[in-house]
This record gives sequence, C-alpha cells and structure tokens, in this order.
Amino acid sequence: MSYTTDMMQDIERVLLTEEELQSRIREVGKTLTEEYRGKDPVVVGILKGAIPFYAAMTAQIATPIEEDFMVVSSYGSGTTTSGNVKIRKDLDTDVSGRHVLILEDILDSGVTLHTLTRMLKGRGALSVKICTLLDKPSGRRIEIAPDYSCFTIPGGFVVGFGLDYDEHYRNLPFIGILKPEVYAT
Ligand code: IMP
Ligand code: MG
Repeated sequence: MSYTTDMMQDIERVLLTEEELQSRIREVGKTLTEEYRGKDPVVVGILKGAIPFYAAMTAQIATPIEEDFMVVSSYGSGTTTSGNVKIRKDLDTDVSGRHVLILEDILDSGVTLHTLTRMLKGRGALSVKICTLLDKPSGRRIEIAPDYSCFTIPGGFVVGFGLDYDEHYRNLPFIGILKPEVYAT
C-alpha cells in the first residue's frame, strides 16, 4: 500500500479535537495527582501508541513519579487483534512493592491490558491500575474495565494522537475515524 501526501484525505471525520483531548487530559491528570500523591508510582507507557498521551498526561501529574516503558504487540498490521500478546521490550524497573499506573492509548479487546496487569501483579506490584485515553467497550473480548478513561468511543477504527493504522497516522494531533476504504484495500 502507498500513502497519499495528505493524511486528511484518509480521515472520514474528526472524533476528538486537539483541544478536547488536552482539556480532558488536564482533568484526569488532576485526579491522578490526588490518587498518587506520596506514592511515587511507576508510570508505564505502552509503546508506541501511548507516546503522545503519555507525554501529555505525565505533564499533568503534579507529584513525583518514575517513568518506564514497555513494547508489546498483539496486533499485526490489520485492524483486529491476534489475541496473542508479545513483550518486545520489558520494563527496566523492578515493580515489586511499587504502585504501577499503566498508560495506554486504547482499551479494545482487553487482551493486552489483561495480560499485562496479571504479569505485573505477578511481579509483586502493590497495585496495578490502568489509565486509557480511549475506551472502546464494543470491542471487548475479555471482561476488563479501565480504572481511568478519558473518552469512551463507539466501534470503528480510529487513528491519530498515537494510534496507528499500519504504523501510519500516529502523528495526527487529533483522533479521527479512518475511512473504511483505507483498510479495505
Ligand atoms: P486490545 O488488546 O485489543 O485491547 O488492543 C489494544 C491495542 O490495539 C492498542 O494498543 C492499539 O494498538 C490497538 N487498537 C485497538 N483498537 C484500535 C483502533 O481503533 N485504532 C488503532 N489501534 C487500535
Ligand atoms: Mg497499533
């Protein structure tokens, strides 16, 4: 597949604007600040999708945190989960006896976060909570709910603000619905 030079041509409509994203992130950031004050949590970003959300959200957490990252993959290049989670880069931090907050771009089938939560609890974390930018409950295959969610969205494949289709569109500053013909081809 080749990509046009105008990414906007592939977007059916904008679901969440840059301003809506930032203002909601600021709000949830206040809640996280209160929740984690004095707890020095390890805030885990799931690469690559969480990068813009991670940067925006951690800047709104006004209490000390430690930052760490993991690379996991459950998707191929398509739009549905393979149901099989691979750790491609593990944490540097020992989370035993620590509070862990996972920041993720989207909770869809739940397979990725269910697997990660169990794994980190198994390593002796004091608590493992999930904060997701987007929650897509219609995609759920495993019963799991985020502890904090910025936006609940309907079904359909979205891109932007870290979310990709075939490793593209992550750099859009908003969340948009991808035209189905882009991934149908
Ligand atoms: P889950 O394990 O099915 O919950 O999937 C989580 C991962 O699937 C996310 O981190 C995304 O990389 C990817 N994903 C799920 N839905 C979408 C979407 O609508 N757009 C882009 N990526 C998605
Ligand atoms: Mg992806």
